Amino acid sequence: MKINIPKKHFYIKDEGFTLLLGDACSLLKKIPKNSVDMIFADPPYFLSNGGISVQSGKMVSVNKASWDMGMSTEKKLAYNRKWIKLCREVLKDDGTIWISGTFHNIYFVGVALELEGFSIINNITWRKTNPPPNISTRAFTHSTETVLWARKQLTNTKKGKHLFNYQDMKYINGGKQMKDVWEFSLTPKREKKYGKHPTQKPLALLERIILASTKENDLVLDPFNGSGTTGIASYIHNRRYIGIDLEKEYLELTEKRYNGLRESMDNEKKL
Ligand SMILES: C[S@@+](CC[C@H](N)C(=O)[O-])C[C@H]1O[C@@H](n2cnc3c(N)ncnc32)[C@H](O)[C@@H]1O
Repeated sequence: MKINIPKKHFYIKDEGFTLLLGDACSLLKKIPKNSVDMIFADPPYFLSNGGISVQSGKMVSVNKASWDMGMSTEKKLAYNRKWIKLCREVLKDDGTIWISGTFHNIYFVGVALELEGFSIINNITWRKTNPPPNISTRAFTHSTETVLWARKQLTNTKKGKHLFNYQDMKYINGGKQMKDVWEFSLTPKREKKYGKHPTQKPLALLERIILASTKENDLVLDPFNGSGTTGIASYIHNRRYIGIDLEKEYLELTEKRYNGLRESMDNEKKL
């Protein structure tokens, strides 16, 4: 697929694995319309509000980065509508979008999806098996994240014919229908050996999403690439990938993960 974007934005342009450096809202406009099979997006959660949490037994600030700072209610909705609208344009009519979040952003995402012409298929709850404790002792321990899965609403009555690999999901669930509550640990240390990203998702979560809603050689896009978990899961399962991030540092980390993965897959082939 030909992407008409100035050279300076291409960080990696391999066959089937592209990383773009820049603002998702400008770059999405340059990607051909109706070309993407599936989008996974882990947008800013607006979590960085000066609070504290615990990591490895130490008190740490919950502040992640400037891109994660809180904003007004109106701005949160407008922000999510803007990038979701652009994602709809590049998504094929039968494609789907997955968006992750917590209560800080997910209700805005849900409303934005409906306003921008999507219909929600599932509300997945990721139950974290090892959440950090709530040290304020003034609330329940936060131990879940939500992932909304949506398809295009084409007209008032017609929705896109989305792909759901029902039998594969049943198979990996021991022969029983897979439910919408998924259990995974926080991102394990071994997945952070090339460096840290403050909100890196576990690979197992992205592998499940990709296996549930795409087929081999499909094109997957992540407008908020981060450390590239979506790209790594896509590469493992022979899906093509485009990732976008504002920060060069995160694309460098993704490149390290990608090179490490290719090396280990090559070594496996030699055995
Ligand atoms: C929540 S993190 C994604 C983490 C990712 N799922 C992973 O597993 O590593 C959001 C990412 O979006 C990037 N970002 C924020 N605003 C952006 C924008 N307007 N355009 C492109 N990237 C953006 C940030 O730099 C950050 O890396």
